[in-house]
Amino acid sequence: MLVFAASDKGGTGRSVTSCNIAYRLSLAGNDVAYLDFDFGSPTAGAIFEISKIDCGADVGLHSYIGGTISSPYQVDVRATSDRSGLRMLHAKAGRLALFAGDRGGAEFPSSAEKVRRCIELFRRLDQEFKVCVVDLSAGRSHALHMALNATAAPEIRSIPVRWLVFHRWTRQHIVAAHSLVYGNDGLLDEGTRAGHGREALQDAIRFVRTAVPVLNSPLSADRPAQAKWLRTCNDELKQLALRNRLGHSATLGETPVEPVLQWREQVISDADVSGNLANAATVEAFDELARNLTDDGVWEGL
Ligand SMILES: Nc1ncnc2c1ncn2[C@@H]1O[C@H](COP(=O)(O)OP(=O)(O)O)[C@@H](O)[C@H]1O
Ligand SMILES: [Mg+2]
Repeated sequence: MLVFAASDKGGTGRSVTSCNIAYRLSLAGNDVAYLDFDFGSPTAGAIFEISKIDCGADVGLHSYIGGTISSPYQVDVRATSDRSGLRMLHAKAGRLALFAGDRGGAEFPSSAEKVRRCIELFRRLDQEFKVCVVDLSAGRSHALHMALNATAAPEIRSIPVRWLVFHRWTRQHIVAAHSLVYGNDGLLDEGTRAGHGREALQDAIRFVRTAVPVLNSPLSADRPAQAKWLRTCNDELKQLALRNRLGHSATLGETPVEPVLQWREQVISDADVSGNLANAATVEAFDELARNLTDDGVWEGL
């Protein structure tokens, strides 16, 4: 299965949430590949805490797609992460491979040749991994364009493809996520031009709400005015999301505001939760997103 992670804006939590979903999927026994297609800022290595590639690799995905190398560079996250918690082997865990971008790599325009290399890459990795998570540059990017064109190719048609659009739970982010999918030259327009059926493509898209503020937090217990304001705000956002076709039925799930992630982009391990550093609800949310993403019944029934 190919999973494309998109967002209109930067700072939506797309990369951190996608890395955590990939990690949870691997813990559950799946072989998972994480492809850093955020070409302007290839920093997935930092989230997995692999210092030698924290800003990309010597010859990574840029070089592969540009045609300089014939086989993309990959690292095994469990073997190379600086975090001992991630290196720990769990009996039933699957592989987790990171395909990093080039160090100092920048955005580059799409071309038929580059799309062809993406098709080749996706085909090869789909045979090797149960799930391939592809983290795309924000907005109507060249990366998005390449992904839409590659997945429209006949060679990819038999592979299940799912699209996740990440947004924060604010007015600006809801409107932006709507625009990325339904707006002019957005995902659906661009995908249709690439050869996708509009309805089928729309069926393959779900939204993910990130860093959703927790209502009824102990902090607001002695501030009834604040608690009431938060509830009103949340209700207004729900209405706005519905009007923008980002309602419950189009949403895969959400993550709560996590203090650790406000300070640091990282994978949240079970040890972070048992050590009372991170909230259990955060890992539960990542687990639920991972399950909903890969369970055909849940995905289709949404
Ligand atoms: N659930 C969360 N709670 C709090 N902060 C979060 C949460 N998810 C992500 N973040 C933080 O938000 C910031 C942006 O996330 P990032 O994944 O880099 O976004 P993007 O890839 O969309 O640019 C990072 O500092 C990240 O740690
Ligand atoms: Mg990112």
